[in-house]
Amino acid sequence: MVTKDIITIDGPSGAGKSTIAKMLARKLGYKYLDTGALYRAVAWKAKEEKADIESEESLKKLLKNIVITFENEKVIVNGIDVSSDIRTGEIGELSSRVSAMPVVREGLFSIQREMGLNGKVVIEGRDTGTTIFPESENKFFLDAGLEERAKRRHKELMDKAQTEIALKAVTDDIAKRDTRDSTRESSPLKRTEDMFYIDTSKLTIEQVIEEIIKNLKS
Ligand code: DC
Repeated sequence: MVTKDIITIDGPSGAGKSTIAKMLARKLGYKYLDTGALYRAVAWKAKEEKADIESEESLKKLLKNIVITFENEKVIVNGIDVSSDIRTGEIGELSSRVSAMPVVREGLFSIQREMGLNGKVVIEGRDTGTTIFPESENKFFLDAGLEERAKRRHKELMDKAQTEIALKAVTDDIAKRDTRDSTRESSPLKRTEDMFYIDTSKLTIEQVIEEIIKNLKS
């Protein structure tokens, strides 16, 4: 494996990771792997099955029976297209909770390695540079202030929903997820010294992509 061919992008919710990773992959002709979608898919299935997400046994069973695939940017769970159903605030919150369970992280580890080792890839999430591909030589950490991230997520949710959503609720939700995602014991969100740090608060998407490309080791 060429470790320079794996670009990892980690960071908190709303830092712009998905949009940027997707566009970067397109621009470079790399594949794109959204690891958050895997946790969201598990959360979606847990909700469908009314599974007890605090129970290791019930999560183990769920993971055994789940088949997650990506097809033309669609997320498919056991044959069902869940692409838009996994993008709700409720599933976001639930995915953050299931992702704190070590059994879920273990269950999704090899899927991510396998998907990532299959050629040049941009992989994005919370632990892609620390746990999934620690050997990558191209690691980035995208960040932005809480207010800015909440504003972005609010706009995204409002564009999709037909009802009014309070910005304060979105801000509180993101703050709660930040704490949970970065303080959990199992592979918490962490910025390490070998990651190139970018604060996206005042940058356009194009500027962030440019900054990443400029700093790629080739
Ligand atoms: O990036 P996202 O909002 O789609 O991710 C949903 C949740 O999944 C997030 O709150 C934490 C979890 N997650 C994780 O623990 N590790 C990853 N590599 C990606 C996401």
